[in-house]
Amino acid sequence: MSFIVAIDGPAGSGKGTITKLLAQKLNLLTMDTGAMYRCVTLYLLKNNINIEETEKVELALKDINIDMKEIAGVQNFFLNNKNVSNDIRTKEVDSFVSQVSHIVCVRNAMVNLQRKLAEGKQMIMEGRDIGTNVFPNADVKIYLDASAEERAKRRLKQNLEKGIDNISYEKILENVKFRDNNDKTSNVAPLKKAEDAILIDSTGMTIDEVVNKIEKIVIKNM
Ligand code: DC
Repeated sequence: MSFIVAIDGPAGSGKGTITKLLAQKLNLLTMDTGAMYRCVTLYLLKNNINIEETEKVELALKDINIDMKEIAGVQNFFLNNKNVSNDIRTKEVDSFVSQVSHIVCVRNAMVNLQRKLAEGKQMIMEGRDIGTNVFPNADVKIYLDASAEERAKRRLKQNLEKGIDNISYEKILENVKFRDNNDKTSNVAPLKKAEDAILIDSTGMTIDEVVNKIEKIVIKNM
């Protein structure tokens, strides 16, 4: 029997990290839905398909087969049987994937794929429209939020850990607010809390505290 935990929320809310930790703790499968949009983007780039030409994109979708397989504990993505797990993380894909994820036919195809791949499975999935659109009947819905200031602080810390020290806190905060606005006002799959989602504001909470809180909610619903 399927069991779905949906974790939605804005960029930088920690949903990626939290979802991975919860999957391990609760023995649930995960699905990196962002990677799927990255696979489509890679295919369009490799085949020189202009993303503004929606009809060509729609045709291309018929030739795109995406699959995922766990290899040594890591989720790998296959595009038409080729392992593209590294190729989908390039700067080029980074710079086009957001636009591609806003194309309606792409979105519909990926949502169908996500539903198909989750059939009969026990999964925890993170994204922005998992609880509102992909799985409106999910067993548990969490909307993970944090103040823009907190998310900017986290991003600054991550940057410094990676040796990136040329982007100021103010610039990062501006970017976080810009992305929030784009995500929330998007015509396609806007970011919003499902009415029946439990809101968790992680501002001032540690990762462990957030994981423990969600774990308790999931266990109660299992
Ligand atoms: O999480 P990520 O950076 O791999 O996501 C890639 C892009 O896809 C990013 O622009 C957000 C978008 N995305 C989406 O629109 N819906 C999802 N469920 C997951 C990601």
